[in-house]
Amino acid sequence: MIPIAKPQIGQEEIDGVISVLRSGTIAEGPKVKEFEEAFAKYVGVSHAIAVNSGTAALHVALLAKGIGRGDEVITTPFTFIATANSILFTGAKPIFADIDETTYNIDTNDLQKKITKKTKAIIPVDLYGHPAEMGAIMDIARDRGLEVIEDACQAHGAEYAGKKAGSFDVGCFSFYPTKNMTTSEGGMITTDDKGLVEKAMALRSHGSKVRYYHETLGFNLRMTDIGAAIGLAQLKKVDVFTEKRIMNAGYLNEMLGDIPGIVTPVTQPGCKHVFHQYTIRVTEEYGMSRDNLVKKLNAAGVSTGVYYPLPVHKQPYYLSLGYDESHPVAERISGQVLSLPVHPSLSSGDLGLISRTIGGF
Ligand SMILES: Cc1ncc(COP(=O)(O)O)c(C=O)c1O
Repeated sequence: MIPIAKPQIGQEEIDGVISVLRSGTIAEGPKVKEFEEAFAKYVGVSHAIAVNSGTAALHVALLAKGIGRGDEVITTPFTFIATANSILFTGAKPIFADIDETTYNIDTNDLQKKITKKTKAIIPVDLYGHPAEMGAIMDIARDRGLEVIEDACQAHGAEYAGKKAGSFDVGCFSFYPTKNMTTSEGGMITTDDKGLVEKAMALRSHGSKVRYYHETLGFNLRMTDIGAAIGLAQLKKVDVFTEKRIMNAGYLNEMLGDIPGIVTPVTQPGCKHVFHQYTIRVTEEYGMSRDNLVKKLNAAGVSTGVYYPLPVHKQPYYLSLGYDESHPVAERISGQVLSLPVHPSLSSGDLGLISRTIGGF
């Protein structure tokens, strides 16, 4: 079976982990600091704060920006649940704006309509590795005095107008094993804001700057040196992984682009899409059904994924909170999207099998 995702673990990662295990410092230590410095340099910001997941990165970034009870934070409903949940964790209220039909990222026109006196921040998501419309979003935020916390959990190395994802205001990354680079579990906050760094570092470690002196309420959200050693090895290779993903996506676009009823992914001008996911849409126009295509691909030995079958505002928990507004584009698109394998380990035979199976369908 061709897997939908495959972590790219080589000898460098194995050697890095063994050397940490031998060092005796296996929780947060010098490797975490080294990884933070290297990742900040990669993104093009002055600071990076490592945490133990992308969810933790979002949670800490929001708290460090002073978001809490009584505040509203606007985000997309077409994302992994962690984006919206991180807002709930702070006591603030997630407000959803609908998505753009082409990129599946937040629609900046709808976003502007959702701004109220209570709005404090925007969380755009770089879905599937395609950057959100960061230029327009930063302009809106500047005009309306809002914070921007970019959920770049799927977008390591993505670019908008020559600037890397995570370098606009505050960026949050995930290093979960299916992501374009991994630390096993792990996350990172990136920023140029020195004030935010101190707050975030305290929040990840029980509110203390000096050990056993606790000035604020914090958590244990630290990354381990074991994870950081994996991350350091991965960071050296992530651009090569990405090039392979872009090539695979280009091949699939060429093979699938003319099939009626299939909509292939688009990269907007001035953007670098890093294809965390290669996601087509199966429209019903020609009697095609996503479920039948999934069955056909699975039978041919190809794994697929649906990210995400239910927008956040339709999730049972959010319905129980009273969310009843409709976001028609997100609702329609979630019924059509289908992600195909695009990871760097695919062979030309794998790519041929995927496109032939869809072509035959
Ligand atoms: C868009 C998005 N936001 C947040 C997260 C949360 O990251 P993690 O799973 O590392 O907590 C993910 C990871 O799946 C994600 O894809």
